[in-house]
Amino acid sequence: MESSCSSESHVDDLVSKLPQREGLVLHRGFWLWPQTTKRIMLLQDSMFKPRDDDIILATNPKCGTTWLNHHPQELVPFLEIPTNEDLTYVETLPSPRLVATHMPMSLLPAAGSIASHGCCRIVYICREPKDVFVSVNVAFLKKDTRFAKVCLPYGPFWNHCLEYWRESIARPDRVLFLKYEDMMSDPVRYVKKLALFLGVPFTCREEEDGVVEQVVRLCSFEMLSGLEGNRTGSLKLRPRPNVVYEKSAFFRTGKVGDWVNDMSEEMGRKLDRIMAEKLKGSGLVF
Ligand code: A3P
Repeated sequence: MESSCSSESHVDDLVSKLPQREGLVLHRGFWLWPQTTKRIMLLQDSMFKPRDDDIILATNPKCGTTWLNHHPQELVPFLEIPTNEDLTYVETLPSPRLVATHMPMSLLPAAGSIASHGCCRIVYICREPKDVFVSVNVAFLKKDTRFAKVCLPYGPFWNHCLEYWRESIARPDRVLFLKYEDMMSDPVRYVKKLALFLGVPFTCREEEDGVVEQVVRLCSFEMLSGLEGNRTGSLKLRPRPNVVYEKSAFFRTGKVGDWVNDMSEEMGRKLDRIMAEKLKGSGLVF
C-alpha cells in the first residue's frame, strides 16, 4: 500500500486497514508495530528531509543499535521512535545530523533520493539471526523462546538485511554494512573502518597514542553495561504505547553465540535452514 497521506486521521485509517498478525501490521512487505507504521507514513509524507551530510545508523532491533548509537538511546534521535511524538524535531537539528532507525531501506523517508542521489551516509549493522531471535524474545519481549514471537518487529529479518546489503554493494561510499560478530572479534579494525567511512579517519598520531583502543574500551559492553545510567530506569523511547523498556534490557549478555542457552538445537537448525534459503545467491552469509 502506498502512503500518500495528508493527515493523522488519514494515516490512522490506512494503518487500521493493513493485514495484522501478532500485534504487528504488514506495511509494504515489513511487519511493524501500528504506532511505528503511522510514524513512518508521516515521516515519508515529507516530515523528514534528508541532507547530504546526514549519518543514519540503521539496524534491525537487537543487532547492536545501542553499541553503535549510545545508551540511553535518547541521545541519538530515533527517526520513527521519537521521545515526544514530535516527528519534525529532527528537522530542527543542526548539520551534520546523526540519527538512528530500525526502518528497512525501502521505507526510509525519501528512500528514492537516498538511493538514487546517494545523499546521507548509512551505517548498517546486522547480527547472526539466532542471537537476534533470542535477544528480541528474551531481553525485549520477556518471552520464553519455546513460545517466542516468530513475526519479529521490522521483519522479515532477511529482507531488512538484504536491502541494506545490496545497497552497500552498489554504493560502498554511502552504505557501510557491518556485522556484530566482526565488530566483536576485531573492534579496533572496525572502529577505524567506521571513522574512515564517516570521513574522519584517525590520524597516525592518534593511532600511536592508542586513541582507537580508548574508543573501543569506552564503547565496550563491560563499560556501558556497568554505568549506573544504563543499569537502572526505563527508556523514554516508546516504540509502542504503554510499553516501557528497561534500560538494562539493552545490555543482556552482549555475547556472540549466546542463543545456545535459550534455544533448542533443533530450532537453531531450522532457523539456519530458513536463512540459508532466503539469502541464497546474495553473497550475504552469517
Ligand atoms: P544481547 O541481548 O544478545 O545481550 P540493540 O541495541 O540493537 O537493541 O541490541 C541489543 C544487543 O546488543 C544486546 O544483545 C546487547 O547486549 C548488545 N550490546 C549492547 N551494547 C553493546 C556493546 N557495547 N558491545 C557489544 N554488544 C552490545
